[in-house]
Amino acid sequence: VTPQSLSGRKILVSAGPTWEPFDPVRFITNPSSGKMGYALAAEASRRGAETHLVSGPSVLCPPSGVRFHGVVTAEEMNRVVSDLAPAMDAVIMAAAVSDFRPEKAAPQKTKKDSNDLTVRLVRTPDILDGLGSRKPAGQVLVGFAAETENLLENAAEKLVRKNLDIIVANDLTQPDSGFRCDTNQVKILFRDGSIEDLPCMTKQDVARRVLDRIESLFAARERS
Ligand code: C5P
Repeated sequence: VTPQSLSGRKILVSAGPTWEPFDPVRFITNPSSGKMGYALAAEASRRGAETHLVSGPSVLCPPSGVRFHGVVTAEEMNRVVSDLAPAMDAVIMAAAVSDFRPEKAAPQKTKKDSNDLTVRLVRTPDILDGLGSRKPAGQVLVGFAAETENLLENAAEKLVRKNLDIIVANDLTQPDSGFRCDTNQVKILFRDGSIEDLPCMTKQDVARRVLDRIESLFAARERS
């Protein structure tokens, strides 16, 4: 890796949670902080890539040099990511996209005048699945798999089903790993069946490892 080893490349990173509102002040979400995605975007930019960060709501500041696209819902993230993706050399979906959204969002704050409230949830689009089915030749597509059981089996299945080149598997049962932490313990799975099993390290170090792997795939494709 040289300081500008991704110069001339375009990389999109998605990060953070999405918010799926059911009225103006209430929403469905998850504990994602955005730290892993922001670390990936910072490292891609540091290596010289034109870096697009598409982020759901996060308290983090966009890293300097990245082109920032703030979104709220999964539908918005899908629109922005799908528009940008065809021109990218690599797309890394690190966002924790909500799989469900309330079917309807009330225009005004819901009053608590009845005791119970039923909110019907419907599926959001699987953004990464759509990117995989439309993947341009030569593009490197990277997903994340956060799991609480059968980590490797589930991650390997998603790698193939979503037509990815790399999947970063994250065991949510490990301490110091996954949502909100500054560190992460991951396994990186590749299409040839190989697996890189990494120890617990900072999210910045995980970002370096993932980008090293993406660079290796770029180099291999250029040779062939
Ligand atoms: O299937 P699962 O949600 O576990 O897959 C995780 C991967 O898919 C992550 O890379 C995540 O960013 C992406 N994803 C997505 N759209 C969704 C759900 C997940 O792009 N609606």
